Amino acid sequence: MTDKRTVFVKTYGCQMNVYDSDRMTDALVPAGYVPTDSLETADLVLLNTCHIREKAAEKVYSELGRIRLIKEARAREGREMTVGVAGCVAQAEGREIAARAPVVDLVVGPQTYHRLPEFLDRARKGERVVETELATEEKFEHLPAPSRERTLARGVTAFLTVQEGCDKFCSFCVVPYTRGTEISRPVARVVQEAERLASAGVREVTLLGQNVNAYHGEGPDGASWNLARLVARLAEIPGLDRLRYTTSHPRDMDDDLIAAHRDLPQLMPYLHLPVQSGSDRILAAMNRRHTAAGYLRLIERIRAARPDIALSGDFIVGFPGETDADFEETLTLVREVGYLSAFTFKYSPRPGTPAAGRDGQVPEAVKTERLDRLQALVNEQTRAFNARTVGLTIPVLIEKPGRRPGQLSGRSPWLQAVHIDGDPARIGEIADITITAVGTNSLAGRFASGAPSRTGIAS
Ligand code: SAH
Ligand code: SF4
Ligand code: F3S
Repeated sequence: MTDKRTVFVKTYGCQMNVYDSDRMTDALVPAGYVPTDSLETADLVLLNTCHIREKAAEKVYSELGRIRLIKEARAREGREMTVGVAGCVAQAEGREIAARAPVVDLVVGPQTYHRLPEFLDRARKGERVVETELATEEKFEHLPAPSRERTLARGVTAFLTVQEGCDKFCSFCVVPYTRGTEISRPVARVVQEAERLASAGVREVTLLGQNVNAYHGEGPDGASWNLARLVARLAEIPGLDRLRYTTSHPRDMDDDLIAAHRDLPQLMPYLHLPVQSGSDRILAAMNRRHTAAGYLRLIERIRAARPDIALSGDFIVGFPGETDADFEETLTLVREVGYLSAFTFKYSPRPGTPAAGRDGQVPEAVKTERLDRLQALVNEQTRAFNARTVGLTIPVLIEKPGRRPGQLSGRSPWLQAVHIDGDPARIGEIADITITAVGTNSLAGRFASGAPSRTGIAS
């Protein structure tokens, strides 16, 4: 007999939520919970939610409708089910969730996860728990570390949050309200966590932050370290052969970080640097605090340091007041930069953000048309970038079995998915792969016999 309860965590939104979901599980395992993949049979269901666009928030309520039916069916069998909502919707709409969805026993904001076991005890005693304090202390330092087995089970790549929150207040964005003010974890803590990951077999770590390049954690010397210095320190950890970071803001892309792309072989030649729009008028209205020309100059400097770097971005179309001419400027910027990929979104008014109530809201049909045109241009650039890799021999981190039997799936330095036929024993290896063909969302390759190509591809 065991009194262990099962927990199912469903994750929406960005990579930070993926990281947080794992940390919630890590906090619950010592409290007697066992992770499960089945929502239907779980004793505890946690939805880790996203509030960035209207659709993301709506998904939560429709999922809660489905969960209510499951919970009721289980109650008829005399078995209880605890339902919790975590993440950014919990933070933004805690009280509304409690009022709108009686199925929910527990609402927890992102800064309170280290107290989950205590909240669950209270919920199981019948209390309706709503905890959405935006704590100023560091939640991570109070969370237990995952076991070596759980780390291994999660694979050879891992996320590591080094910075959380945002003080930029872009006029469209909820993140400063849902994640709170910018906080950086101390260097020693980050190093300790990265060492633990590396010793469990992780080869690639992606450092996370809403504004990761604004990192300013306290160093062991008592001084404030920037991201470049942190990355250089992590590059010394044996076994950690690949480092990435996301998401960056153009204003925090300092000289040290650009130089790190030139000097550190562990730092992968890929940079996600959202610009949102190519129109200075719209950039100002968005409170991005830089111009299109400023962004292009920055890209030039980054490419001078690391010519083969692949760039990706985020774009919003249909921001209030965006005219056809503004949108054309976005297309022009995209053509000038030449992205490997980009995430494109229709502007979604978010309650409580400055832009939501502004005049000049753009009709849905116009947003759709602009999104389609922008996405078509980006797709063309993705295809062109991918096509340039055919025939090259490049180092690929073999991550996991592919979809077909006998197939492996890995990542290029530029974060493209690569499929190769081979032995699963090679998972975790960084192997030289010759790219043989390009698919829609991935590359196909084979293990190479010769030396890797030294040619950069982005220029
Ligand atoms: N911290 C990151 C972005 C986090 S949100 C940064 O500073 O770039 C991820 C992306 O979602 C944003 O870059 C933006 O393109 C998009 N986004 C944010 N709020 C949005 C809104 N209200 N409507 C549509 N897209 C939005
Ligand atoms: Fe949101 Fe802007 Fe902060 Fe990014 S920088 S999280 S878009 S407010
Ligand atoms: Fe969404 Fe919150 Fe991330 S709003 S994008 S889950 S920071």
